[in-house]
Amino acid sequence: MPSKSCTGSNKADALMLRSQELFHLTCHIQPSKGLLSPVLIVEGVRSSGKTFTLNELRKIVSAQSKWIDLDCRRVYGIRGILQRFLVRILNAELQAILNEYDPALAQQIKDRIELCDGISSFIWTLEVLLEVGSKYFDCYSHIFVLDHIDQMLGNDSPVVLATALARLHEQVPKCDNFCFVFVASSPNSLDLTSLSLPHVFFPAYTYDQLNKVLYLRLMASGWRTKVEESLWKSQDLAKDTGIFFKTLSSLLLESFSFYIGSDVDLAIHAFDRLFPHFVEPIARVGSIVNGVNDPTAVYNANRKLLQSEWAIRDTFVDEGINLENEDTNENRSVESYDITLKAKYIIIAAYLASFTDSRYDLMLFSKTNEVRANSKLHRKIRSNKFSVNSKMLQPQPFPLERLLAILHAIYHEDVPEDDVNSDVLLLTQLNTLASLKLILRATTGDSLTTSLRWKCNVNWTVAKKFADDVGFEIQNYFIE
Ligand SMILES: Nc1ncnc2c1ncn2[C@@H]1O[C@H](COP(=O)(O)OP(=O)(O)O)[C@@H](O)[C@H]1O
Ligand SMILES: [Mg+2]
Repeated sequence: MPSKSCTGSNKADALMLRSQELFHLTCHIQPSKGLLSPVLIVEGVRSSGKTFTLNELRKIVSAQSKWIDLDCRRVYGIRGILQRFLVRILNAELQAILNEYDPALAQQIKDRIELCDGISSFIWTLEVLLEVGSKYFDCYSHIFVLDHIDQMLGNDSPVVLATALARLHEQVPKCDNFCFVFVASSPNSLDLTSLSLPHVFFPAYTYDQLNKVLYLRLMASGWRTKVEESLWKSQDLAKDTGIFFKTLSSLLLESFSFYIGSDVDLAIHAFDRLFPHFVEPIARVGSIVNGVNDPTAVYNANRKLLQSEWAIRDTFVDEGINLENEDTNENRSVESYDITLKAKYIIIAAYLASFTDSRYDLMLFSKTNEVRANSKLHRKIRSNKFSVNSKMLQPQPFPLERLLAILHAIYHEDVPEDDVNSDVLLLTQLNTLASLKLILRATTGDSLTTSLRWKCNVNWTVAKKFADDVGFEIQNYFIE
């Protein structure tokens, strides 16, 4: 159920519950230069209002600062997080400044972001951006929120990331207008106590506070409109709606506290399923009649409604995720994918190298059109009646040179302005793909041996998906 923002007195009530924490946050996060803490740790159990309060703070400081938040449960590893940060720092405004300064440098930075594979390349890119866009960075402080940092995906340790970012100011003195906010729900998970960083702790809500939070959350949700519509005969709409949600939030908490604990989102999920049973009796009459269709009466008449099976989630798809601040698909260019454009081409080239016969390489990948258009050769191959669909066979091992040659041919044809050099960066990408087991070493032995061969480890569906992503017609390269 989509939620609306709180209005009027509801909003004031909501803020009252976390006014102290909001005050502490504003002490450390002040957009004016020199007053911004470089690092801040926000800690508290689940559903203690951390994200809620930070969102309120965001509204307060948004005029003078760029707020970049990331849910670490949705981005893979340190590399992914740093890359996503750089992509979001480099917004249209900064991009325009860079293009004006030096278009070649702007392109180089874009490439670097694409290849950012750790803290050192993050620092390099950041230093260049700070140098070129110094006026822009003086105008806006940047606040980076790493929500759920303790639940980061992959094998990377959150402690490594947090320590590196906490010490960033020592390495990049110009980033004194940056603040990194680490939000964690497990106590001491970041192990940064020795650095004596500022810390804002969110205690768990008490039972009464939780009841209020749930009530405010329901009042701010899209359900409110539905309740108001069903109360078509009501004399005092605001009062009746308030009674409806107040009674229901108490009933929900009392009945399901064994399962919900202090997690408001679980309560909301249970409410989603129960809501129609409570609102329909009201819609039939048009108003709340005590003892007939008020939530307590409905509950007494249908006690099974508040038994455990109604509380327990039957889906693991998180419907409550706020995607507002996430990159939308339209905004997300091919370059800002978690897997880069070049890496996709490498996988496509590896697939072609494993599943096409090297005898036809000249015909398929030659830059000279005449060779490729040699219809006689095509006909000859097609007339071979013993030919089998090569995609059905095992991947064939290939030497690295063949992969690079195919890559040069297909990448250069599709992206003529960007040449793939057989440089360190390309080999780094190959190495990353090998560590992800997307390409495999087909022979054992020393990695410097000349007889080393590789194999593609993705199937047709995956290769086709990548090819579609980059607009490459992979099916044209198979002779069947
Ligand atoms: N003071 C509050 N007023 C209104 N709603 C709140 C308040 N605190 C938390 N909530 C709601 O409770 C739910 C969980 O809070 P959230 O901030 O996401 O918790 P956390 O980030 O600490 O896990 C959210 O739906 C949020 O809108
Ligand atoms: Mg949160």
